Amino acid sequence: MADPFQDVDSAGPEFIKMFADAMDVRQSDPTMEKIVATYLGMLKLSDDSITIEIGAGAGAVTRRIAAHLQPAKVVGYEPSRGFVEEARNRVQGAPNLTFQVADGTNVPVENGTIDAVVMHTVLTHVTHPEKLLAEAFRVLKLGGTLIVCDADFSKATFSNFANDPLDVCAKEFVREFVTDPFIVSKLRSLVSGVGLDLVHFDVESRVVTTKEQMRPWVEATTSQMCERGDIGKELADALVAEHDRRAENESLYGYQAFATAVARKPEKKP
Ligand SMILES: C[S@@+](CC[C@H](N)C(=O)[O-])C[C@H]1O[C@@H](n2cnc3c(N)ncnc32)[C@H](O)[C@@H]1O
Repeated sequence: MADPFQDVDSAGPEFIKMFADAMDVRQSDPTMEKIVATYLGMLKLSDDSITIEIGAGAGAVTRRIAAHLQPAKVVGYEPSRGFVEEARNRVQGAPNLTFQVADGTNVPVENGTIDAVVMHTVLTHVTHPEKLLAEAFRVLKLGGTLIVCDADFSKATFSNFANDPLDVCAKEFVREFVTDPFIVSKLRSLVSGVGLDLVHFDVESRVVTTKEQMRPWVEATTSQMCERGDIGKELADALVAEHDRRAENESLYGYQAFATAVARKPEKKP
C-alpha cells in the first residue's frame, strides 16, 4: 500500500484525527521540542518577515514557528483539507498564523518573496523531494533560509534483543507509512542540487520510553496486519499489550534519528 501521508484526505477522517493527535504528541516530546527550538534559533528575522511551513499537517510545528517569530507572519501550507481544518481548530491566540491548502510543488506565492521555508518530516513522505525543494528555492528571497528536518526512518527500531517481535511494528510502520526511509542520507545533495548553500547539517537521536509517543505505530500497524488477515486479533492485541508492558516496566526503547539541514539561497552575484 502507498504511504497514506502522500494523500491524507483519501486515508479518511479516522486517520486524520489519529495522526493530527499523534503529531501533537510527538512534537511535545522534549527531544522534538529541543530540535525545533534549536533550528528556529538559527532564524534571525525581522517583524515584517514572512515564513512558511510546507507540509504543515495539523500545525504542530507551525504553531511553534509562529510563537517563536511573532509578530512576524507565518503561513502553513498543507495539501490535506482535513489536516488544514484540524490545524485551524488547534490554533489559539496566534494572530500572525494562518493555514492554507496547497501542495508543496505549487505554493501560491510570488517568486522571491519569502524569508524562510520550513519542511518538517515532509520529504520522507514524497516521491519527488527535488520538486518541493525547487519550489522552496523559487519562493525564497535572495539570502532566504530553508530548514529541512526529517526522520531517518531507515534506523527506526523497537528492538531490545535479536528478532524482537515488537520490532515488526517499527519495520511495518516504515514500510506502510513512509515513502523514502533513506531521505536523510540524500538530504545534503538534494538541497545543494537545487542551488541552495548548505550551512548546517546534523543528526540527533530520539529515544522513546513512554507509552504515548510511539503507540500509534503499534496500533496502526497491528490493525492493518489484522485487517489484511496476516495476523489474528489475539496477536495484534498482544503486541499492543507488549508495547504497554515495556512502557510500564521501563524497558520500552523506541529509537529514531532526526536530521536538520539549514540552507541559504545565495545572494545575487555582483
Ligand atoms: C508526518 S506529516 C508532518 C506534518 C507537520 N510538518 C508536522 O511535523 O507536524 C507529513 C505531511 O506532509 C504532507 N505532504 C505529503 N505530500 C506533500 C506534498 N506533495 N506537498 C506538501 N506536503 C505534503 C502530508 O499531507 C502531511 O501533512
